[in-house]
Amino acid sequence: MPLQVFDKAFVPFLEEATIIGKIKEMAAQLKNDYNGKKPLFIAILNGSFMFASDLFKELDIEAEICFIKLASYKGTKSSGQVITAIGLDMDIKDRHVIILEDIIDTGKTLHTFLPQLINQQPASLKVAVLLDKPEPRKFEVPIEYRCFVIPNKFVLGYGLDYDGLGRNIREIYQLQEA
Ligand code: XMP
Ligand code: MG
Repeated sequence: MPLQVFDKAFVPFLEEATIIGKIKEMAAQLKNDYNGKKPLFIAILNGSFMFASDLFKELDIEAEICFIKLASYKGTKSSGQVITAIGLDMDIKDRHVIILEDIIDTGKTLHTFLPQLINQQPASLKVAVLLDKPEPRKFEVPIEYRCFVIPNKFVLGYGLDYDGLGRNIREIYQLQEA
């Protein structure tokens, strides 16, 4: 049964158990790589809240997490788009930092934001994503950990929305073919 959200129909794509299974695999990798390093996870709201929560529950090592929002605005002509973090109240200098993102699409957001974090001299900086949608990529983003590589179709559910709706769905749906 397609799921109707506003004007669009979505069909089931990734089941809850499949998502959780992949998150557990990612958590095992992260535990192996970060045990003893007291990593700091920075989850980017809104879309990553469910992914961040399920992943963090699996990480039974000493670790911290914080949540930020990214706000973008047009800077001067020379600097182009500027993306700033709202709510980053942690000192990341000399910390092992892992960014948690729901989905990477064109890559623009993180491509612009990561250099700002690197300026703050973390001990290391890696990116972990639930969904990697490589086809529309226009800006390079180094992705160290990914749960799924997905085709270039709009998705919703499990934290991801269509105009604000769909975040509370336990599975991930994709836009139905026209
Ligand atoms: P970029 O292009 O900067 O964008 O990598 C990443 C952000 O775009 C949003 N996005 C989506 N949201 N379904 C969604 O619900 C999608 O298929 C989708 N593709 C991109 C998302 O907010 C992500 O953080
Ligand atoms: Mg997002």
